[in-house]
Amino acid sequence: MLKSGMYTQLAPVLFGSGTAGQAGEIVKSFGCSKVMLVSDEGVLEAGAAGKVRRVLERSGIEVVMWAEAETDCPEESVKRAAAVGRREKIDGVVGVGGGSVLDTAKAVSAVVPNDDQVLDDIVLYLTGQKEYANAPVPVIEIPTTAGTGSESTFVAVVTSDKLDCKIGLPVPPSYGIVDSELMKTVPPYITAFTGMDALSHASEALTEQKNTPHSDLLACEAIRLIKENLPAAVKDAADMEARDRLAFASSIAGISFNESGVHIGHSAAHALGHLYHIPHGVCCANLTPAVIRFAAKTYPQKMKRLGELMGAAITSDDPEVIGKEAADAVRSFARAVGIKSFKELGLTKEQMMAAKPMFYGDALCMAFGGEVTEQDAADILADAYEG
Ligand SMILES: [Fe+2]
Repeated sequence: MLKSGMYTQLAPVLFGSGTAGQAGEIVKSFGCSKVMLVSDEGVLEAGAAGKVRRVLERSGIEVVMWAEAETDCPEESVKRAAAVGRREKIDGVVGVGGGSVLDTAKAVSAVVPNDDQVLDDIVLYLTGQKEYANAPVPVIEIPTTAGTGSESTFVAVVTSDKLDCKIGLPVPPSYGIVDSELMKTVPPYITAFTGMDALSHASEALTEQKNTPHSDLLACEAIRLIKENLPAAVKDAADMEARDRLAFASSIAGISFNESGVHIGHSAAHALGHLYHIPHGVCCANLTPAVIRFAAKTYPQKMKRLGELMGAAITSDDPEVIGKEAADAVRSFARAVGIKSFKELGLTKEQMMAAKPMFYGDALCMAFGGEVTEQDAADILADAYEG
């Protein structure tokens, strides 16, 4: 029998090259007339934020530009943006950028109609013990990297000062627009690690507790598309066929992991990213092989399929062999697209292992569809370091 489970897609997504041109009509369909456009300096310089701004203004929407989003979405930056949003009396938010920008946009949409206390009480919201006094204002998410999937996921990952870690504030996006035209200026290294982030979403979604045949289907197709298109997009930024397929892969990986989930790799990536400020996708790229090797003990056939999608010819049915060969395929792929190992990034083994308490203490760690012991956590970190 196939595993039972619910098929969900959190928000509609308009996909395709040039679709950002429809942002005005979409924003207006939510009744918004004055929005905050959340972005960052890099995206502003690349032109994507200005392009969306012009589209919105042509539709008669007033735009308050806020291009100060910061990497890893620090709580303080959300508060600053929300203060501007409240003062300007915005009735919607549009995020244009990578994962940190989209997370900032989602968080701002919840904080503006409420207050900064939302960020202090983030655990209560995440665990369902508290609900927003006022509903978040509509938030339309327009990614400019093929990685995050944030336009389809229910949390804004915020760096909490109080908790000194990354944690999710539940804020569903209202709508996503995935337009590969906006991604053509992303530099090779960022293309590589954001693509590896999407791969890690799909890979972990296969073995999270809530996975379904539907989330598996999306995850496997995302893996296939990333394997086939990421090297081309890294090699030639203007390869729009590859960019478009990667944009789709990232989008369906986001839908897959919002229905299923991510787990061990993301717990460790959040800890390492927070402690050593390594880009999220780089952490994920280096952790995924170790997670695959661990997951193969419980899910050998799924990890065999993943390995095959990544180009490995796995003839054995021994979980140890499957895990090693699938992990090797992903690691070689990461190196081929230019991802440096933790060692090459200058991290020491001691620093790596020092992330264990934060990693193992993260709730996502227990979302893996099987037992994860403290020793497993240590072994995964060691494997990710040595691999
Ligand atoms: Fe991720």
